[in-house]
Amino acid sequence: MTQDHRPYRSVLYIPASNIRALDKARSLPVDAIIFDLEDAVTPDQKDLARETLVGALDEGGYGRRALIVRINALDTPWGESDAVTFSGKPVDGILLPKVNGPEQLDALDALNVPRPLWAMMETATGVLNAAAIARHRRLAGFVMGTNDLAKELGCRTRPDRAPLWTGLQTCLLAARAAGILCIDGVYNAFRDQDGLRRECEQGRDFGFDGKTLIHPAQVAVANEVFAPSPSEVDLARRQIEAFEKAQVDGNGVAVVDGSIVENLHVETARATLARALAIAEKET
Ligand code: COA
Ligand code: MG
Repeated sequence: MTQDHRPYRSVLYIPASNIRALDKARSLPVDAIIFDLEDAVTPDQKDLARETLVGALDEGGYGRRALIVRINALDTPWGESDAVTFSGKPVDGILLPKVNGPEQLDALDALNVPRPLWAMMETATGVLNAAAIARHRRLAGFVMGTNDLAKELGCRTRPDRAPLWTGLQTCLLAARAAGILCIDGVYNAFRDQDGLRRECEQGRDFGFDGKTLIHPAQVAVANEVFAPSPSEVDLARRQIEAFEKAQVDGNGVAVVDGSIVENLHVETARATLARALAIAEKET
C-alpha cells in the first residue's frame, strides 16, 4: 500500500451505537476516527449500530478526518454484513479485529472491499506473524490493541508498559519494513492527563504515528505530543540548510549544534517538515 500522508496523531474510537458521540466527533479536532462496531457494541445492538453508522456517514460532516470502520471479525454473525455495508461508503479504511495472519485479510479482500484495509494487532499469534500481515498488499496500517494483547499475555498493567515492549516493537518493525502506518493502543484512564501524556510521549519515542483514544478529553494531548515541536521544526530547517551549504562547499557532512548531519539526517529532517506541513494544512 502507498502511505497515507495525512496526520494520524489522534485516532478516536467512537461506539457506532452512540448517536451523541457520533455527532460530537464532527466538531472534535481529531485526525482520524475509528467507528467501532466490535468491542464497544453489545451483541444485541450490532445491527442497530450498523444502521446508525450508515445514517451518520450519509449525513456526513466529518470533514477531512480519516474515517475508519472497525468491523466485527468475519467468523462472527455480523462481520461479513459489516464489511459489505461499509465497503460502499466513503470511508478511508476497514479495520479488522484480532488479525492472526494474512489469510484473514485475504478473506476480507475476497469480499471485494474497495477500501484500504487495517489490522488490529492484539493477539499473541498476530504479533508473531506481524511481518507477514504488514506485507499484505491491501494493508494500510496497524492499530495496536494493547488491552486485548495484555489480556492474552496475562501481563500486569504498568506505567512503563514494559511487558508490552516486545509486542509493540515487533509490530512497529513489521509496519516500517512494509511502509505502513502504525498507531499505538489506548490509555484507559481517560481523565488522567499526566498519565496520558507520559504514554503518548513513550509511543512517540518508540516511533508510532499516533495514539488511539477513547474520549474527547484525550485529543489535545495526542495532537500536541505527536506533532513535531517548534524546536524540532527549527532544527530540521537548520540541518537542511547546513547540509546544502556543506554540499556546495564539496562536503558530505555538516555540523549543527555540535552534532553531525549526514544525508540520512536530512531525510529525517525533510520528513519532519513534511509532517509539520501536513498538520498545518489540516488545521487551515
Ligand atoms: N467519541 C466522541 N464523543 C465522545 C466519546 C467518544 N469516544 N466519548 C464521550 N464522548 C462525548 C459524550 O457523548 C459527551 O458529549 P456531549 O458533550 O454532547 O454530551 C462528551 O463527550 C462528554 O462525555 P462524558 O460524559 O465525559 O463521557 P461518557 O460517560 O459519556 O463516556 C465512555 C465515557 C468511556 C463510555 C466513552 O468515552 C466511550 O464510549 N468511549 C469509547 C469506548 C470505545 O470505543 N472502546 C472501544 C475501543 S477501546
Ligand atoms: Mg480488541
